[in-house]
Parts: sequence; structure tokens; C-alpha cells
Amino acid sequence: MTAGIDDIAIYIPRLYIDAEDFAKARGLDPVKLQKGLGVSQMAIVDSNQDPAILAANACLKIMQKNKLSPDDIGRLYVSTESAFDESKAMNSYVIGMLEQVYGQGTFEHCGGIETKFACVSGSYALYDNTNWIRAGEAEGKHALVVVSDIAKYDMGSSGEMTQGAGAVVMLLNDEPRLLQFDPKVTATSIKDEYDFYRPFGKETPIVHGQYSNMLYMIQVRKALESYKKKVVSSGLVKMEPGETILDHMDYINMHLPYSNMGKKALAYLVRHEWRQLPRWKRILTEIGIEEPIPKDPRGTIESVLGDEEFMTKDHEFTKLFTKTQEYQEVFESKLASSLIASTMIGNLYTASLYLGFRSSLEYEYQKGVDLEGKRVGFGSYGSGSSAMVFSGVIQPEYKEIVKNMNLVAELEDRRRLTLEEYELLHENRLTPDKSMLHSKKEFVLVDVKTDAESRGERRYSFNE
Ligand code: COA
Repeated sequence: MTAGIDDIAIYIPRLYIDAEDFAKARGLDPVKLQKGLGVSQMAIVDSNQDPAILAANACLKIMQKNKLSPDDIGRLYVSTESAFDESKAMNSYVIGMLEQVYGQGTFEHCGGIETKFACVSGSYALYDNTNWIRAGEAEGKHALVVVSDIAKYDMGSSGEMTQGAGAVVMLLNDEPRLLQFDPKVTATSIKDEYDFYRPFGKETPIVHGQYSNMLYMIQVRKALESYKKKVVSSGLVKMEPGETILDHMDYINMHLPYSNMGKKALAYLVRHEWRQLPRWKRILTEIGIEEPIPKDPRGTIESVLGDEEFMTKDHEFTKLFTKTQEYQEVFESKLASSLIASTMIGNLYTASLYLGFRSSLEYEYQKGVDLEGKRVGFGSYGSGSSAMVFSGVIQPEYKEIVKNMNLVAELEDRRRLTLEEYELLHENRLTPDKSMLHSKKEFVLVDVKTDAESRGERRYSFNE
């Protein structure tokens, strides 16, 4: 049985901080954010918003757009790393909110959980729900998988320039109009690591940024190796001599903690794939310098990062590699469109990969490319750490969905925060009733109880 993504919707909070304002306040060169990281604006949540609200607003949008009733939905999963309760799952809050619109008990039949594995858990949720459909258990119903996060780092930390917030919801079924997942090729890799984590009770993560970036690339490469084996053994793709698996992906979407991380990760993967092929000789000639090797090629990530001479040379080599014409063609045709949304919104943790997918669809369509039958590869990564590589094929009815996508219009009535306003929000100094915006047709947080008996209980309402 087939299964995949039928439709996709996003909800992005309407407040943002501009890279220019942020850099000025932190004494940074704005070009570091804009060009070095690919961050122009970062979406920020209001004081009456939390990750469950972002998820619920996205779900309502996709249900209304597709005229779905709660009876049409068999499962609702929320994937997040911004959980605010150690036990009560975020999908229960989302269902509570949706029932304010659709009626008490209307989602009673709808199973689901909250999934956690840093930024990769949404991909596991998609995989599990796809298999629920493939197993024939959906009985004609759809699944909703919502990835929702608030990427928030300590003030003054290096992570603070890679923040953002938002939710992406995907409607899954057995006759998807957008993307059908390739069966039996999804591949994972996993390793117990501390590159990025958020201990109980702490609102912001502990991050080893450069370590995490390198681990991300290594883990995705491992998952790609396993994907390659599955693709060949399942007969999905026939690899001719001199080809790489990436040649068989028309589009590649990478996890984007910031837009330029996609560039970094693609360059790393392509470089490792091409190195084994005859074309590498030609590329090396064009680059004009030798490919550097670390002092201890079998060393740890720490030893490689600590090898300053190698890191400098490798940086130079990568820069030259990414300027080669062959690499530029791969970058422009397979990845570039997926990076656009991230520059305007920032880091969405679990939702970053899927915002990238949404971005790629919209901007490739705008270029006039016929997307039907194109294979999309996904490189998903979650700190702690696990990677997942999988793929799918764009379906003949995709235009029905993609022709109406308009990210700029969706972000149109955003408000640029002053740095003082941003800091008030960041430090949680505003209560929900003192929100910056008065939103209409959206769920909002009214109150979080503080008394001993009901501590942590959240009250939400739908603003008509
Ligand atoms: N003008 C233009 N570019 C500049 C610049 C300037 N003035 N200053 C720096 N840059 C470039 C750097 O060369 C670098 O580019 P490169 O990656 O091509 O080398 C880029 O900007 C970032 O600079 P860097 O010095 O590496 O930044 P940093 O160490 O201060 O922090 C992160 C960057 C991403 C590590 C940090 O923001 C972070 O930890 N963020 C959280 C990321 C995360 O969540 N990671 C999890 C992985 S899933």
C-alpha cells in the first residue's frame, strides 16, 4: 500500500527580530548572521504562545483548508523538543484546543503521542504514521504529524543568533497528492552523544555548536550509506558505475538549524560521495590544492576540531570545492530553494527540515520546474544523536497544493521587535495577558496555573 504527504501547512508566529538589530545589540557584524549563517530574521513567540499553540494553529489551518472534520483524522502526533510537561503529551493539549472549535469529544477516537529525539523525532513520527497507513490500519482516515518548536538559546550565547519558532503540519494518507514515500529504504543511525541537550527543568539547551555540526554531518552520512544499500538491494534505483546515490535524488532537503548548515552538510555529503568516483580527479584539478587530512585521521570529533592546521586547510578546501561548477550545479538544482524560508524564519528544530521541504516546493514551482516524478531525499538529524535518511516521489497532483503556496504573503503582517521587546519576551517577563499582539482566529494561551493542586495546568482559548 502507498502512503505519503497529501498536504502541508505552516504556522509562524508574527513577531520577529531582525538580524541587523540583533547583531548591533550584541556587537556582532550583521554580515556574520546574514552571509555567514544565512539568518536574516528570526521568528519569536508572543507571551501568549507556546509550542502546543503553534501546533494547534497549524492543525486548524490544514483541516480548514481541506474541509476535514475530526472524524477524518485517525491519528495526531506532535513532535517537539520544546515540551513543557514531563508526562502529559503535547498532542493532548492540541486536541483540547481543536475541540474548542470542533466540539467537545470530537477527537475522542484519535490516537497519538508526543515524540522526542531533538530535531529528528518528526521524521520518526512521519515514518511510524506512514507505516500505520501502509499496514491498512487507517480505515480511510488521515494522520496528522505536527512538528512544532521554539528554538531558544541563552541570551549572549553563540546559539542566540540561530533562534526561531514555528510549526509545520503534514497530512498523511494512502492517496497523497504531494509526495509518496519510497518504501523499505528509510535508514537510520544512532549514537549516545551530548552535542546538544536540555536537562529537566532547564528552558534552554546546553550546546556544543561546532561539535554538533560535525556530528550531524557524520551521522547523516552513516544513514546515507545505509540508505544506499537499501535502495540498491530493494531495486528502487539502479546505480551505474561512476554514479553516486545523490545523482538519483532530484532534490535534497537537509535539517536546517540555520540556513547555511544545509550548504555545509550538502558539501560534506557530496564531497564524500564524489571522492570515490572518477570525477574526483577532475574536481581536484579544478580546486587546485590537495585535500587535507587530519593529523589523526582515525581520531575523535574533538581531536579533529582541535587540529587547527587541518581545520583551516579544510575550510579553505571546502570553500574552493563549493565554488566548482559541478558542485554549484548540484547546489543550485537540488538544495538552494529549500534554504530560502529558513533565512526569513530561523531555526524551527523539528520543523526545520519540513519548512525546507515546503520552501523547496514553492520556489522550484515558481521557477517553472515540472516537479512531477521528481525524487526528494531527506537528511534528518537530531542531537543526542540520530539521523534518518529517506526519500519520496512528487505526485502528479502536486500542483493543486503547491500553486497556492506563498510564504511572503504568509509572513506579510509580521511585526519587527525592538531589542528591548525581544529581551522582555526572551526572559519571560510578560504574562499572557500582556501579549504584544492581539491575534484573531487563533489559539492563545490564557493562563498557566501556579497553585499546588493544579500547578502547570494550561488554559487556552480561541480568539474569534
Ligand atoms: N562576515 C561573514 N561571515 C562571517 C563573519 C563575518 N564577519 N564572521 C563569521 N562568519 C562566518 C564563519 O566563517 C562561519 O562560516 P563557515 O561555517 O562557512 O565557516 C559562519 O559565519 C559562522 O561563524 P562561526 O565562527 O562558526 O560561528 P560561531 O562559532 O560563533 O557559532 C554556531 C555558530 C552555529 C555553532 C552557533 O550559532 C550555535 O551553536 N548554534 C546552535 C546550532 C545548533 O543548534 N546546532 C545543532 C546542530 S543540529
